[in-house]
Amino acid sequence: MTPRAESSIIVEAASVSKRFGDRVAVDRLSLRIPTGACYGLLGPNGAGKTTTLRMIYGVTRPDSGTVRVFGIDIGRNPRSVRSRLGVTLQQNVLIEQLSPEENLRVFGRYHLIPEPELSRRARELIGFFELGSHANVPVRHLSGGFQRRLAIALSLMNRPQFLILDEPTTGLDPAVRLALWSRVRDLKAEGTTVLLTTHYMDEAQRLCDTVAIMSAGKVMEEGAPSDLIAQRLARETVELDCLPTEEPALLNGVDPTPQRLRVGRRLMIYLDDATRLIDHIRELDRGQRRSLIVRPTNLEDVFLALTGTSLEGDL
Ligand SMILES: Nc1ncnc2c1ncn2[C@@H]1O[C@H](COP(=O)(O)OP(=O)(O)O)[C@@H](O)[C@H]1O
Ligand SMILES: [Mg+2]
Repeated sequence: MTPRAESSIIVEAASVSKRFGDRVAVDRLSLRIPTGACYGLLGPNGAGKTTTLRMIYGVTRPDSGTVRVFGIDIGRNPRSVRSRLGVTLQQNVLIEQLSPEENLRVFGRYHLIPEPELSRRARELIGFFELGSHANVPVRHLSGGFQRRLAIALSLMNRPQFLILDEPTTGLDPAVRLALWSRVRDLKAEGTTVLLTTHYMDEAQRLCDTVAIMSAGKVMEEGAPSDLIAQRLARETVELDCLPTEEPALLNGVDPTPQRLRVGRRLMIYLDDATRLIDHIRELDRGQRRSLIVRPTNLEDVFLALTGTSLEGDL
């Protein structure tokens, strides 16, 4: 691989597949992550996100296809790549009998970080992730949220060029989640490439330049969040509770019939301009104002539309 290609693309996965028994976890998946990007892998449970990350990190071997990280085949030479990576997988890897501070120090020594830099980084991460009050408590006594914070802190200890985070904010409280978002933005501004998975579409929309929406081991759609929204659905969303039998009257006279997405009683109606529909609904309700929300269409709508919830109207 040429030096130029190595510097512009951090990850190149080419037709990668992985099965577990009869189950195809990842199905001929190809993706390219440019250097400096924040790339989000989204998808329902079981879509193959974690397996994909594990193959990129080199802890799961693909059955076929290749994964290159920094231009190096991760299957052949994982060690030469790992010192440049930081990773928080879904399962925390912590030394349970040691405290957060000791975990950070052990990890730092593993990466050959010398003193006083080692202490400085450990202190900074303990402060940032608000682990100070628990810095000397054995990890096994910490709550899940604290353990998760420490796992993310560990992945930052070696100042990685490429950071992989598998559902980093699941189980974190809102303040820590906000802090992590700002940290990811800072890292990105410093040139770090970030690959993350999340179930929070608002998180993906805020952080990621590019998202790939996976389902059943395949990438169904890839692009900038704003582009995916604009390509797939109309700009405004009217959200309200209604029964399927009420729907025809609701949409009567709205031409052309807008795209709709139903999740149980909740109906989302997508239009470029919601004014007429709202006037019509108000007229129909004759003063008895039903509660409805008008909001910009977001990535969650696209995600639901792509990953299985029934969508009516042309996409
Ligand atoms: N070690 C494993 N053994 C057997 N099946 C697995 C293993 N890891 C993942 N799977 C299966 O592969 C599929 C994809 O899993 P995963 O990559 O964890 O999805 P996601 O992270 O998107 O939820 C699932 O059906 C899961 O049950
Ligand atoms: Mg997963």
